[in-house]
Amino acid sequence: MVEPLELWSSRLCLRRLRPEDARAICAYRALPEVARFQSWESFGLSDAERLIADQAAVVPDIPGTWLQLAMVTADSAVVIGDCGLHFRGDDSRQVELGITLAPTHQGRGLATEALGTVLEYLFERLGKHRVSAVTDAENDAAASLFRRLGFRQEAHYVEHVWFKGAWGSEYLFALLRREWQARRTINCT
Ligand SMILES: CC(C)(COP(=O)(O)OP(=O)(O)OC[C@H]1O[C@@H](n2cnc3c(N)ncnc32)[C@H](O)[C@@H]1OP(=O)(O)O)[C@@H](O)C(=O)NCCC(=O)NCCS
Repeated sequence: MVEPLELWSSRLCLRRLRPEDARAICAYRALPEVARFQSWESFGLSDAERLIADQAAVVPDIPGTWLQLAMVTADSAVVIGDCGLHFRGDDSRQVELGITLAPTHQGRGLATEALGTVLEYLFERLGKHRVSAVTDAENDAAASLFRRLGFRQEAHYVEHVWFKGAWGSEYLFALLRREWQARRTINCT
């Protein structure tokens, strides 16, 4: 039995994926505008079911694994997105993030709220040193999201990856625990 994990914010609950989430996850991941900068070309119900099944035995904070959490509305328990926490295999004190939010719920600060809760979990509860994210250089919404959360842009890789039939460029963003703590202190004063 894998330990339950629930991270709450004012509008959201982040929790482990459940078999009954498959249709909701498929509904937004299958949209072309959602898939555009993601690793998948298409996303069907069987892909969602496989993702959920693969996550069933994943234990948080095991180096070399991705933990995928559902983003669920706190008031109505609707699955509106998911975020991934990659506990890096090369350094157990570092985590990489990914996030996907259904377009109908974008533009309201929910991704910012979700990752804010995830950062609190990673830095405060798990004591991580550094959290990073890689975004497509054309993915303005993702870059804005990480900048809004205080991440620094550490790199701009130019046409370094063959992605969906063309050379793609990417940004690397990162946030240190001490930087996150300093921002919190400023925001609280
Ligand atoms: C990346 C992604 C999650 C960002 O979603 P988002 O809705 O833009 O981000 P948020 O939910 O934090 O909302 C921010 C927007 O809401 C606005 N907003 C409203 N209320 C807000 C609040 N309380 N707090 C913060 N922002 C708020 C912000 O001004 C911003 O609007 P803007 O984009 O016009 O400046 C989304 O675009 C997505 O899922 N894309 C497809 C998947 C993908 O490419 N993922 C990236 C992989 S790394």
